[in-house]
Amino acid sequence: MKSSVVRLVLAGSLVLAIGAAAFGALEKWSAYRSPLRRPALASTPHDVALDRLAEQRAQRAEAERQRAELLANLTGEAMVEMGREIVHGGRGFCFNCHSIGAEGGGTQGPNLEGIGERAASRVEGLSAAQYLAQSLYEPEAFVVEGFAPTMPVATERPIGIDDLEILMVIAYLETLGGRRTVEPGMKALELVPGSEKSR
Ligand code: HEC
Repeated sequence: MKSSVVRLVLAGSLVLAIGAAAFGALEKWSAYRSPLRRPALASTPHDVALDRLAEQRAQRAEAERQRAELLANLTGEAMVEMGREIVHGGRGFCFNCHSIGAEGGGTQGPNLEGIGERAASRVEGLSAAQYLAQSLYEPEAFVVEGFAPTMPVATERPIGIDDLEILMVIAYLETLGGRRTVEPGMKALELVPGSEKSR
């Protein structure tokens, strides 16, 4: 009689102990699963990496949105201004080798003053815009007399500007002694002689 009471008590405490252990484990698990209850675990390297990734995605989406907005509202005048900024602001490295009038200081390439006019008569059959596009995408196709063929391809390093930026640079260069003919929405690459659309 006495021994069965002892057994009952023992069995009862065993059940309680197992229950407590299970409950404790469950607590830890749900704390881990619940983002609200996980502050202490929020800075594991994995979480930090995930946060950074989400941040980068948001930044990229914002940059794409701004670019789409820019394209939707782009005017010819704005293209000229942005082209001027790429050339004069140093982003295109143009002044490492060129000058425009007294500005810039580069002497490795021709002075670009009046290029908007000159470009139309450089190569038989090429308009100013076509010649300028060729100068930027295929600088070795025509080498200005008296200069070495050291002009880098504009889309490659060190210049590394994209097709839209090249269109803007062409728009700006056209205004140096000439008139802008390129329009927003045009593709600079298609102006290059030999590209499908320009034939
Ligand atoms: C590393 C030097 C260098 C850099 C940087 C450079 N150019 Fe040139 N560029 C030259 C040289 C040299 C020539 C002349 C040889 C030739 O025709 O390829 C030239 C020729 C040109 C011509 C033809 C000029 C003419 O009179 O027919 C244009 C237009 C031009 N570059 C525009 C640019 C623009 C715009 C940039 C910046 C986005 C730039 N270049 C950056 C070296 C450079």
